[in-house]
Amino acid sequence: MMNADDELLETYILAHIDEEEEYLQALYRDTHVKLMRPRMASGHLQGRMLKMFVEMIRPKQILEIGTYSGYSAICLAEGLKEGGMLHTFEINDEQEDFTRPWLEKSPVANKIKFYIGDALELVPSMNIIFDLAFVDGDKRKYIEYYEMVLAKLSDGGYLIADNTLWDGHVLEKPRNNDYQTIGIKKFNDYIALDRRVEKVILPLRDGLTIIRKK
Ligand SMILES: C[S@@+](CC[C@H](N)C(=O)[O-])C[C@H]1O[C@@H](n2cnc3c(N)ncnc32)[C@H](O)[C@@H]1O
Repeated sequence: MMNADDELLETYILAHIDEEEEYLQALYRDTHVKLMRPRMASGHLQGRMLKMFVEMIRPKQILEIGTYSGYSAICLAEGLKEGGMLHTFEINDEQEDFTRPWLEKSPVANKIKFYIGDALELVPSMNIIFDLAFVDGDKRKYIEYYEMVLAKLSDGGYLIADNTLWDGHVLEKPRNNDYQTIGIKKFNDYIALDRRVEKVILPLRDGLTIIRKK
């Protein structure tokens, strides 16, 4: 939860970074009007950050786990150079009617392939090595996503995991049935000890862990 000072600072930041294109503004509004749990969408600050990461890393192939309304997918694709491709996976087939038209009509439609299905089932059989993965699916499965993605990532490739501070709940002792907090905490502990990768956590929004395969 943001307090009043955080909100003022966020307003200040948003006034001093690149604007969100009109198309993304409209998608963000439509997400809030028509979908359950609209807070899952990345939004202005994280969206610009994702685009900037893509511009810095210069990946040819990006994997995204968890498309939802398509907001982060469009931002990631915006950063891609000509010939680059984002492969984005959404497990919830009820999401397709909303998301597919938003992706297909977007200015970066030619850089996005949208798949409906479980990334854990579909990605291992793809004949693609990814240079960047954005992991934003089920918080209980982060370690499974991580191992699956690491096997499909180029050496020196990056994995960005979203929500790794889980609104600060990582500091608490989770209730027995709070499987999302338990999942995120296990993931953070797992990554902290993994010598195959370099890692930092950015306290942006809900926490972003940036992981580099050595
Ligand atoms: C937090 S939302 C994604 C938000 C989006 N990346 C953004 O930033 O705008 C998480 C999404 O992941 C989907 N998801 C969960 N498990 C998945 C899996 N195994 N494969 C693909 N999608 C999954 C959920 O249905 C949900 O729509």
